[in-house]
Amino acid sequence: MKIRRIGVLTSGGDAPGINACIRAVVRIAVDHEIEVIGILEGFDGLIRGEMKELRARDVGGILGKGGTFLRTARCPAFREPKSQRKALRELNETEIEGLIVIGGDGSMRGAHALAGFNFPVVGVPSSIDNDVWGTDMSIGVDTALNTIMNAVDKLRDTATSHERVFLVETMGRECGYLALNIGVVCGAEVILVPEMEMTLQQVAEAIESAYARGKSHAIIIVSEGASLKVGAIADYLDAQEVGFETRVTILGHVPRGGSPSAFDRMLATRMGVEAVNALIEGKTDVMVGLDDQGIILVPLEQVAACSREPNVDFYSMAMILAR
Ligand code: ADP
Ligand code: F6P
Repeated sequence: MKIRRIGVLTSGGDAPGINACIRAVVRIAVDHEIEVIGILEGFDGLIRGEMKELRARDVGGILGKGGTFLRTARCPAFREPKSQRKALRELNETEIEGLIVIGGDGSMRGAHALAGFNFPVVGVPSSIDNDVWGTDMSIGVDTALNTIMNAVDKLRDTATSHERVFLVETMGRECGYLALNIGVVCGAEVILVPEMEMTLQQVAEAIESAYARGKSHAIIIVSEGASLKVGAIADYLDAQEVGFETRVTILGHVPRGGSPSAFDRMLATRMGVEAVNALIEGKTDVMVGLDDQGIILVPLEQVAACSREPNVDFYSMAMILAR
C-alpha cells in the first residue's frame, strides 16, 4: 500500500548538516507525492503534538545552515512507555504513516522504542561525537572536526609565538573520537580520551620531553569525558615547571554550530533520501548508515544496544609522529 504521509523530527544534540537532511527528506518525499509533517522539538514536541506541514518551499535556503530549523530537545520522559504510547497516539491522529528520526545514539534508542509498537520508523544518525554504532560517519562529524582543526591551528600560531603549551578541550562526553582524530590531524603532543587512562605525571613527562627536544610549543587535546580535566592538568604542569607556560582553551559548543562542510551536506542528503526510500519500501526499525559499500541500512535494535568505539590505534600513531 502506498505511503501517503510521513513525519520527520530532530532529537538530542544538534549537529551541522541536519537541515540538509530535512531538506532532502522533504524534497524526495514531495517527488514521490508523499506529504511531510515536520515535528518540532524532538520527542517532546511529538508528545505535545507540535507539528506543521513541510512543503518544498519551506525547506528552501537551509542546505548550508547549521542547527536544526525544526529545533531539538532532550525529553527524559520519552524513556517511559506511557510517553511512547502518547507519541503513537499523536502520530495516528495526524495520519502519519512513517517517521524519520534524526539524532544521536539516545535518539536512535527512542526510535527503536517507537518501532517496537509496530509503527514504521527509520533513524538517521547525527552527532558530532561519532559514537553511533552502525555507521562510519554521523552527520556533523566532518564539520566539527574541521572547526576544531581550524581552532587548534590558530592556537598553535600563538602558542609558538609565546612558547606555550595549550590544553584544548573538545566535546565528547563518553567518546574520544573527536579528540583522537584531532590529535592526529593537528599533530598533538598529548591526547586524553575517556577510552584510555593517563596520569598527570605521564602528561608532564611528555611535555617536558617536547620542550627538551626543542619544540617551540605543545598541544594537548583533551576530550570532555577524559578522566583528567584541563584545569587540573594546567595546575600540575605549572607546578612542575615543564618549560612551557600553560594556557587553556575550552571549545565547548562551538563545533556543534556553523555551516556544514561539503562532506556533511552530501552525507546528510544521501541519508535523507535513503530514509524516505526505506519507508516507501516498507522497511522499519532500521537506521541509515555509511560504510565502505556506501549507504546501508542497519537494525535499530543493534544500534540501540551498541556504541561505536574510536580507533585507539590512532593514539600511538599520533605519538610516534609528534616526535
Ligand atoms: P542524542 O540523541 O544526541 O544521543 P540523548 O542521549 O540526550 O541525545 O537522547 C535524545 C533523546 O532520545 C532523549 O532525550 C530521549 O527523549 C530519547 N531517548 C534516549 N534514550 C532513550 C531510551 N532508552 N528509550 C527511549 N527514548 C530514549
Ligand atoms: O551530542 C553529544 C554532545 O555533543 C556531547 O559531546 C556533549 O557532552 C553534549 O552533547 C552536550 O550537549 P548539551 O549541552 O546540549 O546537553
